[in-house]
Amino acid sequence: MKTLVTGVAGFIGFHTANRLLDRGGEVVGIDCVNDYYSVELKNARLEKLKAREGFRFYKLDLSDRQAYDETRDAIAGISRAIHLAAQAGVRHSIEHPFDYVGANLVAHMTTLELCRHQPGFEHLVYASSSSVYGGNKKLPFSVDHRTDSPVSLYAATKLANEHMSYSYAHLYGMPQTGLRFFTVYGPWGRPDMALYIFADAIMNGRSIEVFNHGDMKRDFTFVDDIVTGVVAAHDNPPTTSDGAPHRVYNIGNHRSEPLMRLIEILENALGRKAEVHMKPMQLGDVKESFADIDAIRNDLGFEPTTPIDVGVPKFVEWFKAYNGYD
Ligand SMILES: NC(=O)c1ccc[n+]([C@@H]2O[C@H](COP(=O)([O-])OP(=O)(O)OC[C@H]3O[C@@H](n4cnc5c(N)ncnc54)[C@H](O)[C@@H]3O)[C@@H](O)[C@H]2O)c1
Repeated sequence: MKTLVTGVAGFIGFHTANRLLDRGGEVVGIDCVNDYYSVELKNARLEKLKAREGFRFYKLDLSDRQAYDETRDAIAGISRAIHLAAQAGVRHSIEHPFDYVGANLVAHMTTLELCRHQPGFEHLVYASSSSVYGGNKKLPFSVDHRTDSPVSLYAATKLANEHMSYSYAHLYGMPQTGLRFFTVYGPWGRPDMALYIFADAIMNGRSIEVFNHGDMKRDFTFVDDIVTGVVAAHDNPPTTSDGAPHRVYNIGNHRSEPLMRLIEILENALGRKAEVHMKPMQLGDVKESFADIDAIRNDLGFEPTTPIDVGVPKFVEWFKAYNGYD
């Protein structure tokens, strides 16, 4: 089976492509390799993928309307797609809102159209986010809860993606699954996310900034568990029996961990203490996230297996090797 993976130079895209290749699948990867964070890290991920049989890469920008024909030709023959390309980051969306229009809205639109016109197309899986729960105070967050109070533009674009996809499932019967990821971490992780920022600061003797005075909780999800869920979704297109063939699932670890506990585990794994600088809550952030995973557990048999006590040391092992520490 040939699968399109967009955002393949990114953190989750890299791991997803590897998993599909591990089981003998063919992967067509697309990424514009933007410089939101280290291009060197994205290229290092791509080099690993390019060395593998069954992988083809195209450097293309899905928000570039001029490149539509080129992109269509690149993906000829795919029957399924996993759309992970996006401008991520809640905090970045406060300062650079226009980045989200191209990368999240136009690129999602392009992906929908490319898939719709692809002969024999079977299923599009796309990334949403736990941030769609926004101001929701009911925990754990369930896919049955309301999502009409996004507290960042990033969240608003992810909600828009879910609605755009639903409309295409309804209009054209195109099977789609949206996955609301909960704070993903692990080897080859993103340098703009807290775990990497903390590890980098601790190793270089800088203090770390902890928001809301440390009173935050997150459902930290190890990347291997996420990929297991993504691939299970990819393999099981929704049916049309109950309306439009569109589903949305949470993928989380189903454990809401205090941020200070994550920092403690990180300190132990690095063998160094952090100098903590407490800060007030940041605009656009939520205090707590916690995934109700009943829907994906019941439908796809998803079961996360990696607590942060196991996952954080695995991240640290990669972080030290990649950055040349000891
Ligand atoms: N990592 C998390 O904790 C998390 C949580 C919730 C949702 N998500 C979502 O999951 C998806 C993957 O996240 P990630 O952590 O791998 O992010 P990432 O930033 O590492 O990967 C995204 C990739 O998309 C590429 N890209 C951006 N705009 C593009 C465009 N117009 N055309 C082609 N490529 C483009 C980037 O160059 C990047 O390599 C994203 O949609 C993100 O919003 C991630």
